[in-house]
Amino acid sequence: MKNIVILISGRGSNMEAIVDTCASEQWPARIAAVISNKASAGGLQFAASRGIPTAVVDHKAFDTREAFDAELARVIDGYQPDLVVLAGFMRILTEGFVRHFEGRMLNIHPSLLPAFPGLHTHQRAIEAGCKLAGATVHFVTPDLDHGPIVAQAAVPVLANDTETSLSARVLKQEHVIYPRAVRWFVEDALTLDQNRVMHKQGTTQLLIGD
Ligand code: GAR
Repeated sequence: MKNIVILISGRGSNMEAIVDTCASEQWPARIAAVISNKASAGGLQFAASRGIPTAVVDHKAFDTREAFDAELARVIDGYQPDLVVLAGFMRILTEGFVRHFEGRMLNIHPSLLPAFPGLHTHQRAIEAGCKLAGATVHFVTPDLDHGPIVAQAAVPVLANDTETSLSARVLKQEHVIYPRAVRWFVEDALTLDQNRVMHKQGTTQLLIGD
């Protein structure tokens, strides 16, 4: 049984998708805790309603990034995680924190990385005239929104798309690929060679959505 700790900063819809899929597919894993840097994060209520332990480590209570990350790591380690899942966790992490969880920390980013790291990915994709957008699940490295790619979902960018309509189309696919990628990790189905993550059975790591 693997322990998964999920970090959120807000709504937590990706966390919900992972919690629900873990239960419905009966993964050999349990969500050991959901932790937020904001007490107001909506996802905390959902987690509590499912009987999942929750915790808040408020970044505003710390003078430095290092101090916040040290406390966050201490709280996470208390749940003995095999995997840390960043699900809309909107904090830049220090190298020390990332190294501590290296190889056992995943993130989802709403773009087809390495395109559009950072914020406002959908607006930037529309403004760049992209015809394809999407989301990426990747192992976390000290480089923000970079790291070995576990899965990607691609969706079309339509002529009349707005940031709202495109983000909704991408989010729907995030809720498919993130649980899938977490399950692969839980099942030890992934290999990492240099920067390339492969599924041991050759299962496709690309989802084309609509
Ligand atoms: C998701 O779209 C996720 O990809 C994005 O934040 C949203 C969180 O939604 N993450 C990032 O931008 C990280 N760089 P959620 O709280 O409903 O899962």
